[in-house]
Amino acid sequence: MESCGTAVSCTPAAFLLLHLGLISSMAHQNEFQTGLAGGEVTLNCTGILPDSKLPRDTVISWVYHDTLLWRMEKSNKYWKKPTFITGRADIKMQYKQLRVWNLKLSDAGIYTCEYGPQKVRTSLHILKLTISSDGHFLQNEVPELILMQNSSSPLPDLSITLFDSNNNRVTPELQNKSRQKYVVNLKKLEAMDSGTWVCQVHSDSPLINQNISFAVKVLGFQNPDLERKYATVDSTVIFSWRLNSQIIKWKEGFTGQLNWKQQESASTHELLDFNVTAQGQLHETKKSSNFLFEIPERKPESTIEVKLPKVHFNHSGQYQCQLEYQGRHVQSKIELVVMKVSANPVGPLSRGANMTLTCQVSGPLTPNAYLRWERVNGTEMDSKNSKQHEVKLEVNISAAGLWSCHLIEDSNIKISFHYHVEEAPVWINYVIIGTSVGGSLLALVLGCLCIISGISWQRRRQRAKRMAQARQYLLENKTCQCQHWLKK
Ligand SMILES: *[C@@H]1O[C@H](CO)[C@@H](O)[C@H](O)[C@H]1NC(C)=O
Ligand SMILES: *[C@@H]1O[C@H](CO)[C@@H](O)[C@H](O)[C@H]1NC(C)=O
Ligand SMILES: *[C@@H]1O[C@H](CO)[C@@H](O)[C@H](O)[C@H]1NC(C)=O
Ligand SMILES: *[C@@H]1O[C@H](CO)[C@@H](O)[C@H](O)[C@H]1NC(C)=O
Ligand SMILES: *[C@@H]1O[C@H](CO)[C@@H](O)[C@H](O)[C@H]1NC(C)=O
Ligand SMILES: *[C@@H]1O[C@H](CO)[C@@H](O)[C@H](O)[C@H]1NC(C)=O
Ligand SMILES: *[C@@H]1O[C@H](CO)[C@@H](O)[C@H](O)[C@H]1NC(C)=O
Ligand SMILES: *[C@@H]1O[C@H](CO)[C@@H](O)[C@H](O)[C@H]1NC(C)=O
Ligand SMILES: *[C@@H]1O[C@H](CO)[C@@H](O)[C@H](O)[C@H]1NC(C)=O
Repeated sequence: MESCGTAVSCTPAAFLLLHLGLISSMAHQNEFQTGLAGGEVTLNCTGILPDSKLPRDTVISWVYHDTLLWRMEKSNKYWKKPTFITGRADIKMQYKQLRVWNLKLSDAGIYTCEYGPQKVRTSLHILKLTISSDGHFLQNEVPELILMQNSSSPLPDLSITLFDSNNNRVTPELQNKSRQKYVVNLKKLEAMDSGTWVCQVHSDSPLINQNISFAVKVLGFQNPDLERKYATVDSTVIFSWRLNSQIIKWKEGFTGQLNWKQQESASTHELLDFNVTAQGQLHETKKSSNFLFEIPERKPESTIEVKLPKVHFNHSGQYQCQLEYQGRHVQSKIELVVMKVSANPVGPLSRGANMTLTCQVSGPLTPNAYLRWERVNGTEMDSKNSKQHEVKLEVNISAAGLWSCHLIEDSNIKISFHYHVEEAPVWINYVIIGTSVGGSLLALVLGCLCIISGISWQRRRQRAKRMAQARQYLLENKTCQCQHWLKK
């Protein structure tokens, strides 16, 4: 790949030269050369002998159109120094080549080297490529590319082909076109489009084949535009946005902020703002005082991170990280869905009684998601699924044990809440029955109590065993939340 500013020779023109040379020994030669604005070219004085073999009385001059640029007579050389080229040109003495650097569109034209009776005319064609925002973009922006050409001969119709940083062909949208100026819109940029792009410019006559490379930097997130995160109430949640500024060696300062809103229509709360210096240093400032969150002390570089140590049901919603550069923005959102579970009545479940378990998620579910209640090691009868779009699912249960509420999306369990329903000791019921029988049966009741408390004691042992099993289960299921039960 030719880097910006390299001159490219034109073989057919050279071929044409040879041809002309054969037809007549008359010494007019025509050459064609392309240069890039900002780059440099070396124009040949084709056919000239090297300095050491050149007769001492040869007069050599370089002329731009009718303007004398440089002249050498009997070894005296001098520059005419026309202002347009001052400080941007010199002569390579060995072959008297004219070198011009920091080329401008207006340098286009005919450069003639004359020595003795010989005249070598080079038509210099200049191309200039500019990219909007100096090649610095945010994700989702569409760069504009402007290609201009200038020449003293009629301007050719250029064909433009673009290759992105992965060398994939990009079909640009030609915005506006004149022979002098082509305006093209590239595609919507993604963070991974950062790198060196190539603009291939072609024309058949005159033959131009020029690769112009240019740098594109796309500042953005390594996260997707929208992520979903699930958490159970009281668990710890960490949000993290990975910026790509280091990877792409972004050398400009920028700022940003982290906002939260519970719903699309709700008001936005600013949690923190930050800035990143041109040297890549990140400064963060906490903004919200009534929202309990922490900024983790140890985190990867170029990462914006916040930690909610004990998430509330009402902390759900959209967490949006926004970057700002020169008045332009880009954002990446993480949507937090919180799950909670409650029981009515609370407390142990008596035999033959019912209890209502309610599982609720904070946000609207995607169409492919639903809630499911099921009893661990229970039967199919012990399970219930929510209907589409239901964010709350109730079950009336009459069996104690470990109950789980799952949020299932595309057949994958996204999050589960495990709730242990204790079985109430049975003797309470018996005592109530016993007292209703009447005072005369007190002795019998007392006798029964002895027997029943024995049963109850045995039941407690079974219960302790079940609790141990449940504890084991909880340990194996790390996502689990079951404080209600563990406290018992
Ligand atoms: C200029 O001359 C040199 C040496 O003869 C040759 O290698 C080079 O290709 C020529 N450049 C152009 C643009 O014709
Ligand atoms: C094109 O080059 C000519 C000289 O050859 C110059 O007068 C003119 O200003 C140039 N055009 C542009 C757009 O620079
Ligand atoms: C194309 O560019 C020319 C000159 O720059 C301008 O006058 C014209 O309005 C542009 N046309 C469109 C469609 O943008
Ligand atoms: C321009 O680049 C393309 C692909 O990157 C390559 O095939 C071609 O040879 C290059 N042309 C020139 C003149 O460097
Ligand atoms: C960057 O943030 C720090 C700390 O909040 C602040 O002192 C500094 O002025 C900020 N710099 C810019 C350029 O905003
Ligand atoms: C969320 O609810 C808790 C109580 O459940 C309350 O203390 C807190 O202030 C609420 N937070 C917000 C941001 O509304
Ligand atoms: C318990 O729930 C079942 C099924 O939902 C119902 O058939 C039964 O009548 C309920 N019993 C009580 C005491 O509420
Ligand atoms: C659960 O039971 C309560 C009271 O017995 C009743 O109002 C409710 O409709 C029942 N819910 C379901 C889902 O069966
Ligand atoms: C479910 O059954 C398995 C295998 O029988 C057992 O290891 C596990 O402890 C049971 N879990 C609960 C919560 O009863």
